[in-house]
Amino acid sequence: MCGIIGYIGAKPAKQEILQSLQLLEYRGYDSAGLCCFENDKLKLIKKKGKVSTLITACENEFVTAHCGIGHTRWATHGDPSDKNAHPHLSENNNVAIVHNGIIENFESLKGNLQKNGTRFRSETDSEVIAQLLQKSKCESELKKVQELSTLLKGSYAIAILFKELSNQIFAIKKNSPLILGKANDGLYLSSDVNALIGKTSEYYIMQENDIIWIDNQDVYLFDSNLRAKDIEYQPLTLTTQDISRGTFEHYMHKEIMQVPQAIELTMTEFEPMQNPLTRIPAELIKSAEHFSIIGCGTAYNAGNTISYYARQRDIFVDCYYASEYRYEKFLSRKNEVCIFISQSGETADTIEALKKAKEHNIPTIVVTNVASSTLNKLADYILPTKAGPEIAVASTKAYSAQITALYAFIDYVYCIKNGINCRSCILKDKLKDICDKLKSYDLSIIDNIANQLKNIERVFFIGRGVDFATSQEASLKLKEISNIHSEALYAGELKHGTLALIDENTVVIVIATQKELLEKTINSVYEIKARGAKVIMLTQFEVSIDAVDILVSLPQTDQLLMAEVSIYPLQMLAYKTALYKGLDPDKPRNLAKSVTVE
Ligand code: AGP
Ligand code: GLU
Repeated sequence: MCGIIGYIGAKPAKQEILQSLQLLEYRGYDSAGLCCFENDKLKLIKKKGKVSTLITACENEFVTAHCGIGHTRWATHGDPSDKNAHPHLSENNNVAIVHNGIIENFESLKGNLQKNGTRFRSETDSEVIAQLLQKSKCESELKKVQELSTLLKGSYAIAILFKELSNQIFAIKKNSPLILGKANDGLYLSSDVNALIGKTSEYYIMQENDIIWIDNQDVYLFDSNLRAKDIEYQPLTLTTQDISRGTFEHYMHKEIMQVPQAIELTMTEFEPMQNPLTRIPAELIKSAEHFSIIGCGTAYNAGNTISYYARQRDIFVDCYYASEYRYEKFLSRKNEVCIFISQSGETADTIEALKKAKEHNIPTIVVTNVASSTLNKLADYILPTKAGPEIAVASTKAYSAQITALYAFIDYVYCIKNGINCRSCILKDKLKDICDKLKSYDLSIIDNIANQLKNIERVFFIGRGVDFATSQEASLKLKEISNIHSEALYAGELKHGTLALIDENTVVIVIATQKELLEKTINSVYEIKARGAKVIMLTQFEVSIDAVDILVSLPQTDQLLMAEVSIYPLQMLAYKTALYKGLDPDKPRNLAKSVTVE
């Protein structure tokens, strides 16, 4: 995780770096720091806490600097503290580095350096990079940077300043993202394109083992053998409006409100003219006997949700957490197709899982929200979601867009397998109806529920079938940003153990959108009520049950697509509960948006 920025150009470096760090802050907010050339020296300021703390510390500093590197950290090795904050300097203060990733062999490298007398200032794995560069015997700085790739194991995106080479920046990357941005009056390095919006008009996504050397306004690109490469820039079309909070106090609120738009835009992507599904050969679909969906967190939950939809269409889908899929004894199934879901397209676990599928020659499809992402580059076929930039750590509109793309995919598979002419407009009309209903859906009841949840210690979400998948996503959202312990359960499973935890201090949120399962779910409601818990029920059906304390009526739509509806008020519930608890919903404790470490 963590965000890296580098800048060199006509503008004040401090301003460019701090502004970009604020945009990268969703990637980590344990500490932040910057190091710039000032009067040919390396000047460093770094602070524990958010970028705002660094901004205060940098007032009246770095006045003449036009070149520097910055970092916002999500700690993997060493606690969040001033000393573990990046940038890190070498022992003689002649090299400064920022790093995103994990140096897996740092202990042996550090041990060797320490044996030879090098003193370390931090507990991080990253500091070893600065010390190795200082100790390197290579004749040029470029070669010293190249040498890193032979010494370091793990994942890294690194930006480097050498005191001896004023106003020059070096960068190298492997398994962590790094992007070069070009503007009329400067050059940028950044962990993602969002931090370049409004600053550059073109960007280049660094490839594995690329090395970049920026010397004032000249930039050189090399492969791992230091052979020169051409830089193929692509236009940056996102605008500052795409990443602004607008009138909303939090990104998460804005992004929940954008759910209908995310569904509509994603569906538009699957219209006949440009339908990305048609790029997946029909022969591949016809012969596919088994689909595996792989993702992490919300992306996994989207896969699980869609597996219920797929089964209704006699399409067999298995879901895996990417972090498990990688290390499982590999079950190569005949005619398998793997589908990877990821908002960012940069999640390390998902990338590694995809590589594993490729090693076994399994065709790969990715569902991602970021066109320039690593997963898009690696996969055989891409199903894009059009949620627009998602900044809040908690994923909301991206989930809705993911299930939209996958409804379209499953319908496509169904049509091909059954020799039907695929008319995606039926799905489109149904989703349009859902969007219209969500736009006018009165969520005021959610505020009252959130107010009650703020003092509750335990929340359970229960449902059967697809409502269980929605329960998983709702539960993840609530625990992630409100810090309330919550768990999702199949409604029928409660009585097999967890009922022991149900008492007056428990809230159980019941999701019941499937007519044929309603009666059975209502049985569970009575069992819960008999143990004293408060019951909140979400359903589109007219029910009148004494045991339910609060009934949340859902808009009525096609039952098979109800997951698109039922998560919406529950995303809002998580958001409002965090507010009532005085927490920042955009920056939940211990988390970061893009998990680029394993
Ligand atoms: C969602 O609210 C979480 N922040 C997290 O579970 C996220 O969905 C997960 O890390 C996967 O990210 P990705 O979609 O970018 O791969
Ligand atoms: N491993 C480094 C640290 O803990 C970088 C962390 C990251 O990239 O998330 O400081």
